[in-house]
Amino acid sequence: MPVNPVFPDIDRSVSVEQISEISDRLSTMMAELREQMLAPRPRKKSPVFGSSQVASLCGIDRSRLNYLAGKEDSGLPPGEFHGNGRSRSFTLEETQVWIRKEAGITARPAEADGQILITANFKGGSTKTTTTMSLAQGLTLRGRKVLVVDLDPQASLTELCGLYAESDVAEDDTVMPYIYKDQPDLRYAIKPTYWANLHMIPASPALFSAEFVIPSYIVSNPKLRFWEILLNGLAPLRREYDYIVIDTAPSLSYLTINALMASNAMIMPLVPESLDFISSVQFWKLFSDLTQSFMQLDPGKRFDFISVLLSKVDYGSSSSSPVVRAWAQRAYGDWLLPMEIPASSVVGSEALEFATVYDIDSWEGSKKTLSRIRDPFDSFVNIIDDRVARKWSRT
Ligand SMILES: Nc1ncnc2c1ncn2[C@@H]1O[C@H](COP(=O)(O)OP(=O)(O)O)[C@@H](O)[C@H]1O
Ligand SMILES: [Mg+2]
Repeated sequence: MPVNPVFPDIDRSVSVEQISEISDRLSTMMAELREQMLAPRPRKKSPVFGSSQVASLCGIDRSRLNYLAGKEDSGLPPGEFHGNGRSRSFTLEETQVWIRKEAGITARPAEADGQILITANFKGGSTKTTTTMSLAQGLTLRGRKVLVVDLDPQASLTELCGLYAESDVAEDDTVMPYIYKDQPDLRYAIKPTYWANLHMIPASPALFSAEFVIPSYIVSNPKLRFWEILLNGLAPLRREYDYIVIDTAPSLSYLTINALMASNAMIMPLVPESLDFISSVQFWKLFSDLTQSFMQLDPGKRFDFISVLLSKVDYGSSSSSPVVRAWAQRAYGDWLLPMEIPASSVVGSEALEFATVYDIDSWEGSKKTLSRIRDPFDSFVNIIDDRVARKWSRT
């Protein structure tokens, strides 16, 4: 066969030594890039809420809000006048005070544990992290106190919480000291965030070590209930938070197994595209193979509910959503939630890469574009909180 003259036959073999050289060169380059990435970037701020938003979060009308805000002894923050002097604005903290006093949401009984939720999917880009953060923020807008736990070494949730994983998070700030048994539980790792009543346990690439440390414990103690390590570390925190929401890496790691087994309920965000659907089917297969191997030891494990949330739904005419939605209905039945999160420029836009729909101030951009995605998120949060509140009221 004639040799193609456009592609000269050159030796492309690579030695291990050459890979080391490349790696050295990349490290130098990374050091430079890091300088750029570490340039100060604006700290995240929580949004300001207008009167109508606060009224709607409390389920009261604006005139009642104005009456209460002006009343000296209502014990409610009056907010600040802005614009024409008729409408008020409130900080997130103030808004949460209003919600706790006026919204009539049933509080968690003091003797009930906080609910542990996990967003699960082995497909990257399935909006797991976005869903985790939005759910956590949304729950604080129902007066709940929430802890988010980032177990993904890629630390996207940590970044959404306003920390820069690269510079702000050391291994000692993550769950690792507890995994190494240097700490009795996970209390040490809790950090407040820019968002009132939303605390976090951050992640960093150091979490990869857990995948070596946990198996080494199993080698020295084959009877170890290794899937309970995380739950034991969270146990002392459950009275302090109404919710603990865990975000994991899109893979079946030891940390993910621990997160799944620690959870009381599971939410699977699913982008209605065929590959995503297939990947979700594989998730259940892997999960059931795995649990069958050790569940004989833990036969009492139950989830309060498992819900599938169609997310980043494309309503364009050439979209595969209608087909995959039908598959999901058939496959998941009443696990499938009634609301769907549309694909929205509000979330996808570059400027908001480190933000969710709840981070946006009420009067920015078009109201309609915002409420198209915010309304389904609100109903998603409400349906989850409602189920959990019912469970609390039965205790
Ligand atoms: N409703 C949405 N519309 C458009 N883009 C979205 C939406 N939800 C999430 N995204 C974007 O999709 C990408 C993947 O989301 P992410 O939450 O990081 O997924 P995962 O954690 O499952 O990998 C992110 O860039 C995110 O900003
Ligand atoms: Mg993620």
